[in-house]
Amino acid sequence: MYNPQLNKHGELQHLLTTEGLPKAHIYSILDTAESFVSIGNREVKKVPLMRGKSVFNLFFENSTRTRTTFEIASKRLSADVINLNIAASSTSKGESLLDTIDNLAAMHADMFVVRHAQSGAPYLIAKHLHDTGQHHVHIVNAGDGRHAHPTQGLLDMYTIRHYKKDFTQLRVAIIGDILHSRVARSDIHALTTLGVPEVRVIGPLTLLPNGLEHMGVRLFTDINEGLKDVDVIITLRLQHERMNGGLLPSAQEFFQSYGLTLERLALAKSDAIVMHPGPMNRGVEIDSTVADGTQAVILPQVTFGIAVRMAVMSILAGN
Ligand code: CP
Repeated sequence: MYNPQLNKHGELQHLLTTEGLPKAHIYSILDTAESFVSIGNREVKKVPLMRGKSVFNLFFENSTRTRTTFEIASKRLSADVINLNIAASSTSKGESLLDTIDNLAAMHADMFVVRHAQSGAPYLIAKHLHDTGQHHVHIVNAGDGRHAHPTQGLLDMYTIRHYKKDFTQLRVAIIGDILHSRVARSDIHALTTLGVPEVRVIGPLTLLPNGLEHMGVRLFTDINEGLKDVDVIITLRLQHERMNGGLLPSAQEFFQSYGLTLERLALAKSDAIVMHPGPMNRGVEIDSTVADGTQAVILPQVTFGIAVRMAVMSILAGN
């Protein structure tokens, strides 16, 4: 069967999802990222691994962290980076996604980093490149709808490994709007592949998708129960842009029931870390005392994201 993510030799051709991504590939990305972290501390923050390659950032949906860190990562690998301004591009004149891709590929693109509000858009592009024989062009999914955000999932795994070392002894809790979260899905797939024995998801039933149990997680609607003795807490924002309304009474009531406060954090292990993919809504899913507290590793996540994205791109480019 055609697997768009791996080539016929089992090597990474595109990075579209963490679902089904073999453990060896995840470790290869995390280990490669480890070797890139120190580059950020050098005076000259560059290596020549992608010199002469062209990376196109195609963000059809807004982003602060992902777009910027992909740009930094590309530049640190010495690639040429083109940030397509979607609002000012010919998509506003009715050009289709695949026609846009073909035109950019005709400019000798080597890699497309794609964020799109439609789940599956990066798959559509990968299949199109396959069908048209453009095998030298690689796709990195930078977040598609509510489906997947694999580089966020991988940078989250890097962060957990950095602070906790061994995945096989951990309890990890993911709190909030799981239903609309591509980060939650990418994290759950990666955590279970890496052998985390207990992944908990915590939220109101209206924000927990059907069939979640089949992903190997435990469901909790009571945050106090769900946080007990966990090692890692991942908080998520309410993704209003993907909600059809009526799922929650109000942001204030969500905070009352599911906001991460210092009092609730005290239910976790005393050395638990607090993560958040951003953007954060203080006073909704997380209190400022937690977000700015000693257990939060939210900004290190962003920094690690550069090395992880360098690793993904350099592996795809064949290094
Ligand atoms: N975590 C994340 O995807 O953030 P951005 O939307 O700012 O890229």
